[in-house]
Amino acid sequence: AEIHYHDFVIQATPVKRLCKIHNTITVNGQFPGPTLQVNNGDALVINVVNRAQYNVTIHWHGIKQIRTAWADGPEFVTQCPIRPGGSYTYRFTIQGQEGTLWWHAHSSWLRATVYGALIIYPKEGEFYPFSKPKRETPILLGEWWDANPIDVVRQATRTGAAPKVSDAYTINGQPGDLYRCSSKDTTVVIVDSGETNLLRVINAALNQALFFAVANHKLTVVAADASYVQPFTTSVLMLGPGQTTDVLIDGNQPPGRYYIAVRAYASAQGPFDNTTSTAILEYKNTPCSVQGIKINPIFPSLPAFNDTATATTFSTSFRSPRQVDVPTEIDENLLFTVGLGLNNCPRGSSSRSCQGPNGTRFTASMNNMSFVLPPNFSILQAHHQGIPEVFSTDFPAVPPAKFDYTGNVSRSLWQPVRGTKVYKLKYGARVQVVLQGTSIVTGEDHPIHLHGYDFYIIAEGFGNFNPQTDTAKFNLVDPPIRNTASVPVNGWSVIRFVANNPGVWLMHCHLDVHITWGLAMSFLVENGVSELDSLEEPPLDLPVC
Ligand code: C2O
Repeated sequence: AEIHYHDFVIQATPVKRLCKIHNTITVNGQFPGPTLQVNNGDALVINVVNRAQYNVTIHWHGIKQIRTAWADGPEFVTQCPIRPGGSYTYRFTIQGQEGTLWWHAHSSWLRATVYGALIIYPKEGEFYPFSKPKRETPILLGEWWDANPIDVVRQATRTGAAPKVSDAYTINGQPGDLYRCSSKDTTVVIVDSGETNLLRVINAALNQALFFAVANHKLTVVAADASYVQPFTTSVLMLGPGQTTDVLIDGNQPPGRYYIAVRAYASAQGPFDNTTSTAILEYKNTPCSVQGIKINPIFPSLPAFNDTATATTFSTSFRSPRQVDVPTEIDENLLFTVGLGLNNCPRGSSSRSCQGPNGTRFTASMNNMSFVLPPNFSILQAHHQGIPEVFSTDFPAVPPAKFDYTGNVSRSLWQPVRGTKVYKLKYGARVQVVLQGTSIVTGEDHPIHLHGYDFYIIAEGFGNFNPQTDTAKFNLVDPPIRNTASVPVNGWSVIRFVANNPGVWLMHCHLDVHITWGLAMSFLVENGVSELDSLEEPPLDLPVC
C-alpha cells in the first residue's frame, strides 16, 4: 500500500463562467478541484492550507474513516474550522472500499466550488467485477451561481427568504453550449468505436437532484457510492446530491458526436433551476464537419422535471451483486422524520425574531429537531474531552407526535425545536432507521447522507411507513450498500447499519439549503472494549475554535 501526499491550497481564483469573471474559491486554483486516485488499502495525507477569507473544512464523502473521525471534516461536528491563514492535515486510510467517491468543503456553501473526485482502484492484483474498460472518465455534476454562493446563503439567512436557485448546472465545471457565452465551455468525453468507457458520475450539486442521459447510448450501471451492484441497463440516471453512479458506456453507435445532458429532478413545489447542462460524447476521429457542413450532436430524451416514476424505477433497481451481511436482528429501531418547517415570523420583522437555526423563516428538521452547530467546540472534541453543555444526548428515537406525514399536519409541528442533540449508540449496535419524509411546506426527495458508514437500503415506498405491513418489503438478502439514500418524495426509506466505527457522525440531507435550515442530526458511537475498536487520539494540529 502507498501513502499519497497532497497539498490543498484553498484560495480565491478568477474563473470565467456565463460571460463573467468570478473570484471563485478553489483548491490549488483548479475548478473542479484535483482528482485523487488511490488504491484500496492506501493512506492519504492531505495538508489543507487556508488562504481564503472564509473558514473551511474538507470532508471525504463516503470514506468510512475507521477510528479516524478527526479526519472526517464537517465543521463543528468533528473539528473546528480551519481559519483563514490556518492549516490542518487530514490523515486516513482506505479500508475495504473501492469505486467512486468525492471530497468537498463542509463549511457554509463553500462546496459549490470546492469539490473533486476521489477514485479508489482495487488493490494491486485485484480487479473490477466487470471487464476492464478501455477508458475511464470522472463526470462531476455541479451547480453554478452568478453571485458568490456564500453571499447567496448569507443573504437568505439575513432576510429569512429561501436562497436563490442556481444559474446553471455544470459537467466537470463547465455549463456547456446551451448557456450564454459557453460554447467553448463544454466538456468533451471521448469514446472509441467498439470500446467501452467507464463514466464515474458524481452529483456534486448543492441543492438539486439531477437526471443524466446520453443520446442514443444505453448505460450499464455497475456501482454506486463505491459499492458494486448487480449490473443493469438504463437510458437515464437520477442522482441525488452526494450520490455517485458508475456506468459503462459502449461505443456501439455510428462515429459522431452525441450530447450528454443533465437537468433537474425537482420533486418539491417551488422554484428550481430549470436549465440544462450539456457535454459531448465524441467518437475518436470524428470530423467536425462533413463536406463543410457542421454536424450538430443528437440530443437525448430526458424525463420531465417532476417525473418521480422514472426516478423511482431507477433508484429501486439497485441490488448488491451477491448476498450481503445485512443484520437480520436489530438493537435500535429508530424512526426519524425528514422534512421542512416554517417559522411564524411577524411580517416584515427582522430575521432575529425567527426561530430557524440561523434566524431563518424556513426551517427543516429530523424528528422535529432543527440541528444547530455548537459555536465554540466540535461535538467530537467535546465528547472526547468531556466538555459539558456543548451537546446533549437526548435526540428522540421516534417523532414527538404521531401524525400523517403525507397529509395536513397541526401547526405546532410546523415549527421545529432547535438544539444540538446526538443519539448515542453502543459499539456494535445493529441499527435500523426508518427515514420518513414529511409533506410540511412541501414534500421533496431528500438525499440523506450518513458520515462514517455505508448502510443497506432494505426498502423504500410512498406514503406513511407502516410497521405492520411494510416489513414484508424488506430485502435482507441483497439490498444495495450506499452512503446516501434518496428518500422518495412523500415517502420513506429504511436503512440498516452496524455501529462499529466509534466517533461522532453527522447524518443530514445533502441539499445544502436543508442543512442551512437544520435537516441534520448526529450519532455518537461509543468506543468498543479493545483499543482497536476505539477512536484514535486527536492529531496535534487539530484546529481549535
Ligand atoms: Cu457529502 Cu456531510 O457530506
